[in-house]
Amino acid sequence: MTDALKNDPLAALAWLVDSGADETIGEEPVNRLVAKPAEPARAPVAEAPRPMLKPASSFARPQPAAPAALPLESDSIGTAQSLAAAAKTLAELKAALEGFDGCALKKNCAHTVFADGNPASRIMFIGEAPGAEEDRQGLPFVGRAGKLLDKMMAAIELDRSTAYITNVLNWRPPQNRDPAPEEAAMCLPFLRRHIELVNPGIIILLGAVAARHVLGFSEGIMKLRGRWLEYRVGDVMIPVMATLHPAYLLRQPSHKRLAWRDLQAAEKKMLSLGLLEKTASVS
Ligand code: URA
Repeated sequence: MTDALKNDPLAALAWLVDSGADETIGEEPVNRLVAKPAEPARAPVAEAPRPMLKPASSFARPQPAAPAALPLESDSIGTAQSLAAAAKTLAELKAALEGFDGCALKKNCAHTVFADGNPASRIMFIGEAPGAEEDRQGLPFVGRAGKLLDKMMAAIELDRSTAYITNVLNWRPPQNRDPAPEEAAMCLPFLRRHIELVNPGIIILLGAVAARHVLGFSEGIMKLRGRWLEYRVGDVMIPVMATLHPAYLLRQPSHKRLAWRDLQAAEKKMLSLGLLEKTASVS
């Protein structure tokens, strides 16, 4: 934070909100700049023996059963898969998500954020996760990043009546941190079903997290963006492109030109697939 911000409490508050620190986590302010009293020296603790990794051959032998009472993450993923598969419509899928308690993020959220836009559109945008404003309103991309997404869509003559928008995660991670792999794993069966039910003709992934979870690639977004890839639903391959996330573009406005290039390519593809009704062609 600059000295100018330190002397202007309102501007400093706006800076914090922009950085994602938009909620209080304690009743009393904490001055973290004051030196902490030194901790009393502790007696050394003997390290517990570490479990040995088993040789591959031992996996074939019968293993003792896991204690039945332990809640397993895979149980929740299994539940998510069956709930998602049973949903025959978007309304049923939304209701299934709202009734699903397997993802720990949900308990700190005001809303399950499902989607916005036109479900009959064949142009699907997928972002990362709701932020504070999205959690308040129960809709994706309605905060500052959402305003930029609206402008990005408008640049290729799309809006929320002609496109459909959702996220990989349906609940806001605290302080907008990256989703943990197990949190994403709970939401992915719902997202896959969401894609099947919308049946998009094209998918645009917004940012690295969406690209990683939807495509399963660990490459950085700068390598992935702008490339046409395919997402398979049954026998159908849906063209998919990742581009830069609008929240990233708010922090790195000089990279908007890269996103603009991607959007132009996306517009061209949509026109060639007959997904956009437009007479003017894109150069
Ligand atoms: N960022 C996202 O990825 N999704 C939202 O809904 C809002 C911000």
